[in-house]
Amino acid sequence: MEIEDIITLAIETSCDETSCAVLKGGREVLSNIISSQIEIHKKFGGVVPEVASRKHIESINLIIQQALDEANITFDDVDLIGVTQGPGLVGALLVGISSAKAIAYALNKPIIGVNHIEGHVCANYIDHKDLEPPFTSLIVSGGHTYLAQVKDYNEYELVGRTRDDAAGEAFDKVARSLGLSYPGGPLIDKLSKEGNPSAIDFPRVYLESDSYDFSFSGLKTAVLNYLNQAKQKGEEIVVKDVAASFQQAVIEVLVEKSIRLAKERESRKIVMAGGVAANEGLRNMMEQRGREENIEILYPSRVLCTDNAAMIGSAAYFNHIKGQISDYHLNVIPNLELKG
Ligand code: KG4
Ligand code: ZN
Repeated sequence: MEIEDIITLAIETSCDETSCAVLKGGREVLSNIISSQIEIHKKFGGVVPEVASRKHIESINLIIQQALDEANITFDDVDLIGVTQGPGLVGALLVGISSAKAIAYALNKPIIGVNHIEGHVCANYIDHKDLEPPFTSLIVSGGHTYLAQVKDYNEYELVGRTRDDAAGEAFDKVARSLGLSYPGGPLIDKLSKEGNPSAIDFPRVYLESDSYDFSFSGLKTAVLNYLNQAKQKGEEIVVKDVAASFQQAVIEVLVEKSIRLAKERESRKIVMAGGVAANEGLRNMMEQRGREENIEILYPSRVLCTDNAAMIGSAAYFNHIKGQISDYHLNVIPNLELKG
């Protein structure tokens, strides 16, 4: 069998999406079923871990079967099993890992534990068939914010990270303070298109001049203070202007640090990943700066930006061909870091 013909069954249950995908090689998606729990968690204003685990248990077998059916294969056709090992919610991750181990054991096929953040980066290999490392990557999700130099398919140099809130977390918290529902990122994105990004001068936090780290909690506090002061003074709050001004403050810093790193490393490509990479303002500004600096900007389609199993399948494949293998002792690591 050719290595590109390897069929991978991948499972992702790190947060509030139960997802299973089938891939051929590292880039061709035969199916990618995503069952979102967002409607259930919405009424609590965020993900409730216990509820998430229970919902994963209820739907995982169904989702796996759907993924096989849509790919038009059976378990017998599967060569490799990939599963998210971390980071994520411990109970939620356990559901995916247990299912994946059971399948691997029953089929006597190799299993690979995948780092969820690496999965986000690998979503780009699916949508950009010619993309190969090395490149600069901005990884912005609900739980993580990283700037990295991707040296090889499974080799990452972490250059910057958030010192407090993740970018997506900042979007969600600010959205909540504006009375918007969970998850707030897409809603702020939408409102920003109508609002004035220069209406309020929120702080751009660059930290030390040579630092590639991020900090978003001060910006979040600045928005809260602005809202409280406006309320106290009885001034009208124009939600779309607050949203647009906040978004502008976040994306300017994300874009400028990414461009600076790419230039410093003489990298001609910036590859974005994670839920916040779906943000239209971020995509537009990064593309504009990319044109000015002659740097190519890539990001996955919207559905592959947010959590899905196809990206986990791609990461499993590339780690597999680099010789990585897990065994049946594979366990969840809720605070798993991206390997440097
Ligand atoms: O990568 P992801 O699906 O899950 C994690 O691994 O955390 O990211 C979810 C995050 C949420 O914070 C959500 O608000 C944010 O991505 N997000 C967005 C957009 N779409 C999703 N943030 C800004 N603009 C968007 N269009
Ligand atoms: Zn994610």
